[in-house]
Amino acid sequence: MKKRAVITGVHAWVPPYVLGNKELETMVDTNDEWITSRTGIKERRILKGENQGTSVIGTEAVKGLLEKTGTDPEDIDLIICATVTPDMLFPATANIVAHNVGAKNSYSFDISAACSGFLYALTIGSQFIETGAHKKVIIIGADKMSSIVNYQDRTTCIIFGDGGGAVLLEPTEEPLGIMDSLLHTDGSGADFLHMRAGGSRKPATLETVKNREHYVFQEGSTVFKFAVTKMADVSAKIMKKNNLNSEDVAWLVPHQANKRIIDATANRMGIGPEKVMLNIEKYGNTTAGTLPLCLWDYESQLKKGDNLILAAFGGGFTWGAVYLKWGYDPK
Ligand code: UT7
Repeated sequence: MKKRAVITGVHAWVPPYVLGNKELETMVDTNDEWITSRTGIKERRILKGENQGTSVIGTEAVKGLLEKTGTDPEDIDLIICATVTPDMLFPATANIVAHNVGAKNSYSFDISAACSGFLYALTIGSQFIETGAHKKVIIIGADKMSSIVNYQDRTTCIIFGDGGGAVLLEPTEEPLGIMDSLLHTDGSGADFLHMRAGGSRKPATLETVKNREHYVFQEGSTVFKFAVTKMADVSAKIMKKNNLNSEDVAWLVPHQANKRIIDATANRMGIGPEKVMLNIEKYGNTTAGTLPLCLWDYESQLKKGDNLILAAFGGGFTWGAVYLKWGYDPK
């Protein structure tokens, strides 16, 4: 029997501060009606305070996950954190989280795949379980987008928020867990969605700070066009590859970047809104955080054996879909 990696628990965390559309109206030339109709977002969470990085989100999510699943932190073999807003360029945020939660026997690393990061990390982590190398792997998707958002740019500051979550992967010989994964990259997308300075190509100087080059730059309409096509294509492709029709799919778990992109993906899959996980109105786009935040919000509605299609598109460009069978009934 093939060994598979199955999700045996999920937990997430968002900071308490709520930045609503009304408050954004006082910061940039925008309005609640435009934001709601063009994106579906009503509010997002912001991590406030000195020295508060993405590891705060990851640590809270993993602590809750360990408690909920009754897992001893010393039994964790590997922690992978998907993020584009690490606490520092190095060391990895995953290392800081591992230390904070007492995962003394684990090694850990970050991966950078923007909004598709959780799918990339989930795919990587599941391979270590399938080969038999590891028994307990934690996958984190978390971002503190407020640290790289320009609150004078109305085209980006209305979209992003802070938050994230984590899942525990364990082996199973039942026909459950990560069944298939399709991942893609197109590096030409770097021109349309990036942070210009602060890396090795353009290290921080007084000039780069003055020119506001340490913030997300996005050519929104170009990214939108790619996202609509690619997220729908890859979702339809993974269904076809696994002989799934729309009735077989219990849930679409889409990256929460824009409700219009989510609707287009669901349409292409022939799936009604009742099967689409949606929480963009509460959290906005938390980049690598959106997918575990969805699983956490909807956990009580998921049943063992449910077919889930997770799909994402983001910076890079990166995009992909994962087909998984949910591992447990509501507890
Ligand atoms: O998660 C990573 C991947 N990212 C995405 O998937 C995001 C993809 N892009 C989008 O979701 C959308 O492109 C945005 C939400 C960013 C923008 O929506 P849009 O419908 O593509 O708007 P647009 O950029 O084409 O702008 C339309 C108009 C412009 O005005 P004019 O030139 O027509 O007069 C903008 O200046 O809307 C204006 N506009 C705004 N108006 C009020 C742009 N942002 C705002 C705003 N409030 N916040």
